[in-house]
Amino acid sequence: MSSDVQKMRVAVLISGTGSNMAALLYASRLPDCPFRIVLVASDRADAPGLALAQAEGVPTAAVPCAGRSQAEQEGAMQAALENSEVELVALAGYMRVLSPGFVARWEGRLLNIHPSLLPKYKGLDTHARALGAGDAHAGCSVHFVTAELDAGEVLGRIAVVVRPHDTPETLGGRVLIAEHQLYARVLAEFVRFRKSVQPPDQNTHPTPRSG
Ligand code: GRF
Repeated sequence: MSSDVQKMRVAVLISGTGSNMAALLYASRLPDCPFRIVLVASDRADAPGLALAQAEGVPTAAVPCAGRSQAEQEGAMQAALENSEVELVALAGYMRVLSPGFVARWEGRLLNIHPSLLPKYKGLDTHARALGAGDAHAGCSVHFVTAELDAGEVLGRIAVVVRPHDTPETLGGRVLIAEHQLYARVLAEFVRFRKSVQPPDQNTHPTPRSG
């Protein structure tokens, strides 16, 4: 089993319920999981997922946008990530579009989960759009975050069958269950891959620095 010191230090950024964050957190507690959640941060102080993370003993940070420019808010987020010596950032229902500068700083270490089979249905209302198109399958994707919304390389997907009489809510509920499986699996695989291709010293302290 990996010791905690060897595990990749992951931050999860959320805006709401945080069920994907919870899936990652509980997966991280399984034997041999190669990552640990060292910070849960949110742009919303009242995000239910923050309270869950606190109850589970995970450090949290609320980094609200009110009264701040995007640059100031992202600067505060970056500081929180650096304070926690975060190595990899997992967006999980984080409802802000990150600036190209922030994305560039975390290039290759910034993942997101999206509730569609990318490249289909980037952006919002994915389940309604899949139903409206008459698709036989919906699903979810984990992808790298790049400056273009939901357009980074896809690392994994799960398809979910569309059932007769599905609504966006019923379909979305099943896709969310698939998301929980997919994100933990892909994140673990990604971390193992990174560790296999990087020298040990870069595995322990690759925290990005400003400048
Ligand atoms: C998920 O469907 C995710 O794919 C989308 O926002 C939702 C977040 O749900 N980006 P939760 O907060 O993880 O429960």
